[in-house]
Amino acid sequence: MTALFANTGGGPALVPIDIGHDKYMALIEPDTAFWALVRKDRIAEVLADPAFVEQVHERGAGFAAEMDALRFGLVPSAVYFNPTERCNLNCTYCYLPETMRRHGVRMTEDRLFEALETLLAFFRRHLPDGVRPQVIFHGSEPMLNRRAVFAAIDRFAEEIVFGVQTNGTLLDPDAIEFLTSREISLGLSLDGPLAEITDRTRRTHAGRGVHDQVVGVLEMLRGYHNHAVICTTTTDNLAHLSEVVELFHALEVPTCMLNPVRCTLPGGQMLRPSDDDLTSAYLGALDRSYALYRQTGRKLVVANFANVVLAVIAPTARRLMCDISPCGAGRCFFAVDAHGDLFPCSEFIGLSGFRGGNLFTGGLESCSDTDAFRSVTGRMVETIDPCRGCSIRHFCGAPCPAEAHELRGDLARRGAYCQFYEAQLRYALRLVADGREDAYLSDGWDTATTTVLDMTVPWLTPSRQTTTGGTSVAHPKETR
Ligand SMILES: C[S@@+](CC[C@H](N)C(=O)[O-])C[C@H]1O[C@@H](n2cnc3c(N)ncnc32)[C@H](O)[C@@H]1O
Ligand code: SF4
Ligand code: SF4
Repeated sequence: MTALFANTGGGPALVPIDIGHDKYMALIEPDTAFWALVRKDRIAEVLADPAFVEQVHERGAGFAAEMDALRFGLVPSAVYFNPTERCNLNCTYCYLPETMRRHGVRMTEDRLFEALETLLAFFRRHLPDGVRPQVIFHGSEPMLNRRAVFAAIDRFAEEIVFGVQTNGTLLDPDAIEFLTSREISLGLSLDGPLAEITDRTRRTHAGRGVHDQVVGVLEMLRGYHNHAVICTTTTDNLAHLSEVVELFHALEVPTCMLNPVRCTLPGGQMLRPSDDDLTSAYLGALDRSYALYRQTGRKLVVANFANVVLAVIAPTARRLMCDISPCGAGRCFFAVDAHGDLFPCSEFIGLSGFRGGNLFTGGLESCSDTDAFRSVTGRMVETIDPCRGCSIRHFCGAPCPAEAHELRGDLARRGAYCQFYEAQLRYALRLVADGREDAYLSDGWDTATTTVLDMTVPWLTPSRQTTTGGTSVAHPKETR
């Protein structure tokens, strides 16, 4: 039999990557996102080991099929639904235009019910039996249309899994009782450990801060398992990210997101941190969350980082679909605004040229075929420079299309934060090398996964790729 070699002919393409670990480097096969961690002093030996090369080659088709299914085989299962265009806040970086948030329309209860019936009929046609679609009331500020939203939750509770992403300022005890008693997944937003930090970015149209009010709501939510908080990371709060983690942990928040500000509109662009500053603050915050876990035994999961860890150890178990290409916009989820207009993702609502029809005029079935949707669902790292040659392209995905379009003037460019994404992946691989990755993931994350490759070569860490058990539906669990 003809021998196979790495990096030539029919052999697997294995690229060594420095992950900043004292003992291990990574070998990555860029096309399939296969990885192995190899002792630095044995890397040449591994690359020349016929048994290893053969094993990677044999499994390659399976890994490629898994990656293809993730990139091209999913169907939409979630909707970000804006029941109003208005918001009571005027956050400096908001990707929704201020005029819309100040003067926009609100959907009536009848129209909201009609929209949900239409969505339900669509999902019944496209989702496997027994899979309920997810509708996340989003915005602008969905609680400004509380009566209609709550009526819809009660009317469709059996058929739809609901979530609400809110700035938190309009959640009174009755609203909290309503939402928590129905186990609604609840997302809030808070940008700092103290009012003087949060209020730099998140305030009312009159300029009043809302920090203390939102912390009061989080106090009321203490003990509720199904809530999360988004902290949008900007130059205004970067220096305080570890303290944000401390506050969330003290408030017993189960999950948070430390999302770098998207530079889609000028407000976000003005607060864009440098990749270096972002990386050191963010990794410092992850270190802090780990230290708190060691001290208390209680996790604060940083969901956007957990997703990167999952991209490594269980690619198809990823929940958020920003760091894969094409991203989830328009193919795993889409957005509906208060007029019933359809967009690939909420990020596009304020941009012209990305409206893919209207829900009320029969546009739902055809929106995926519109130029607006296709331009986003067809955006792949393979067509973007320098991402096409980047070894970690299937762990990063060159996010985000809306950001790239506005920041660089072209969807076929990368967005902001390339070096930050690299650093994040290296950190994740170091955790795996040290066997610490579970501390960063929700408990039970692996109940639906099986190991498909667990190599036992002595100088490899027990490297593996895992796959979810069977379903081809991705649920972006958290909102952004
Ligand atoms: C658009 S808001 C809508 C829901 C609600 N009003 C809220 O603030 O949570 C949803 C989330 O997007 C975040 N967000 C808004 N503009 C952003 C941007 N330019 N980059 C990153 N996140 C942003 C907000 O901080 C918030 O956490
Ligand atoms: S981030 Fe949310 S609360 Fe702030 S202005 Fe935008 S929609 Fe309103
Ligand atoms: S943005 Fe940077 S890290 Fe991500 S795929 Fe492109 S080159 Fe690679």
